[in-house]
Amino acid sequence: MMEKYMYLLIIILSVCGIFGIASHSPVALDVLLDALERLEYRGYDSAGVAYLDDGLSVTKRSGDIAHLRETLSGVDDRFRFGIAHTRWSTHGPPTDVNAHPHTDAAGRVAVVHNGIVENHDSLRRDLRATGVEFTSETDSEVVPHLLARHLDRGLGPREAFAEMVGRLHGSYAICALVEGCDELLVARRESPLAIGMDDATHYVASDVPALLEHTRDVAYLRDGQRAAVSPGRYRAWEAGGEAVSLDTDTIEWTVEQTEKGGFQHFLLKEIDEQPEVIRRALRDRVTADGALTLEQVNVDPKPDVVHLVGSGTSYHACLYGAYLFRKMGLSAFAHRASEYGTVAPPVTEGDKELVVGVSQSGETADILSALDRANEHGRPTLVLTNVLGSTAIRKADNAYMIQAGPEVSVAATKTFTADLVALNLLAEYFTTQNHRRLLQTFSALPAWIRDTIDDSDAPALAERYVDADAVFYLGHGLGRPIALEGALKLKEISYKHSEGFGAGELKHGPLALLTDNTPVFALLTGDAVQTGRIRQNVSEAAARGVPLIAVVPDDISPPAECDHVLTLPDVPPSVEPILANVHLQLFAYHVADRLGRSVDRPRHLAKSVTVQ
Ligand code: F6R
Repeated sequence: MMEKYMYLLIIILSVCGIFGIASHSPVALDVLLDALERLEYRGYDSAGVAYLDDGLSVTKRSGDIAHLRETLSGVDDRFRFGIAHTRWSTHGPPTDVNAHPHTDAAGRVAVVHNGIVENHDSLRRDLRATGVEFTSETDSEVVPHLLARHLDRGLGPREAFAEMVGRLHGSYAICALVEGCDELLVARRESPLAIGMDDATHYVASDVPALLEHTRDVAYLRDGQRAAVSPGRYRAWEAGGEAVSLDTDTIEWTVEQTEKGGFQHFLLKEIDEQPEVIRRALRDRVTADGALTLEQVNVDPKPDVVHLVGSGTSYHACLYGAYLFRKMGLSAFAHRASEYGTVAPPVTEGDKELVVGVSQSGETADILSALDRANEHGRPTLVLTNVLGSTAIRKADNAYMIQAGPEVSVAATKTFTADLVALNLLAEYFTTQNHRRLLQTFSALPAWIRDTIDDSDAPALAERYVDADAVFYLGHGLGRPIALEGALKLKEISYKHSEGFGAGELKHGPLALLTDNTPVFALLTGDAVQTGRIRQNVSEAAARGVPLIAVVPDDISPPAECDHVLTLPDVPPSVEPILANVHLQLFAYHVADRLGRSVDRPRHLAKSVTVQ
């Protein structure tokens, strides 16, 4: 059971969904489309299917699975071997050609892939030199061409497949269909792949929700293993060719439970994914010798004035970014996207300005019009986003992909953290030459976040204060955006009144709101001057009899007046707010859950706000 649970924890970290069927008797297309719908939470920007009937048939479309289903309506083909894929783009935007399955030039081989082929550039060059023409911009397309090349050399499908997999670096779950071959060929490295079994039909899937309506008997391929799956049986072997027998597990979870990787809500799962999100965010930004590389962001010349524009949580990321940029000597301003258009920001002649739109979805209407406005005024633009192919990318001069993976819950959590990491890297890139210290800090951040998630007392505090009349959050400097974000998270998912303030603002009005049933979170983050100032504000709040919760690095002593302490590890001041935010995310989640709220789909809210 423990092993199964660990598997489920691992699978939530990678994206894209794969399904395959090797059936004893002919099946209809719905088998593939229904399975894709079960995997849609893993990616939903394009999808496709391939199956063997008279020959190989492939259909793929940008957009969601409903769009693919519409395209295939009226097609009544039956087949015994089929594969399917739902994509979350990493290389190349979500277009029809970039969707999976990918094929070789002759259309004998179709492949679905989850993961990243890290050496795809050099493989492409080799294949091009032998006359291969590529149709997509994806890393995955090298896979069918490579497989076809080995088939052309006269190898059988299994041998050709093994040769092909041996050439790949990076992470992959691959399922291939080869004309004339009565097997699905699969391989796995760092991306999950399970084989579902019943007497007459076998299945392949990147996650168990796609298997549960067919079977509960599942075997998990391990890193480096490959398998050939046929109706009613499979053979698995190690990279070196030795046959292996896999243990069979019986899945007891419901479809819903498995989609969420065992977590009760997507929100909690997404909070839990943050260590991996940071690892992924750093992977493409750091060279093999440990240096920072943001060349693909392509901002030249580097700016001396930055305007950051965003809405909601993304605006809080902009506030954090503006503080950070200013600390590093750049002139920087944060703007709410909804107000950016009202008065144009001041322009100084000769300044090298950059407008940075921050938008998880890349579709927020106010961000799009802010980018239009920046374009009209001839300002260079950069967008920080999580969604490849989003409208904001088309409107901006350059894009920085934060690579947090699909965020299903309406409330933003892991994408906010990914934004803060991206803004740190950008600030460094724009202002300094030597990035080693920052990269060292950020490579340790995933472990600090893991510890914070695992050890946080926030769930107990949620239980204690679930009936509070309101909750307030105080922060200073880089801590202020986190105070605002903590309050936004709590109000949007628990419907409880909450507000965040710059700590120094308390006595200019908000003090009047404090009672003995309005807990106050005080973020004692930043340097000694900042924390000294917050201590003073904490005393002002304590004198009004509020319950006080201090969020404090464990190397400084918490204020004597506080009732509870949430500790942070001893980390550099710029990352303290990122960790403090994790406590606040957990507090908001557990309050909302205790109140029985619709945590993942709060009332009146939408994930992407496409109207002004
Ligand atoms: C809060 C939240 C919203 C979004 C805002 C902007 O949890 O999700 O406040 O941050 O609607 O959305 P994006 O970042 O997609 O532009």
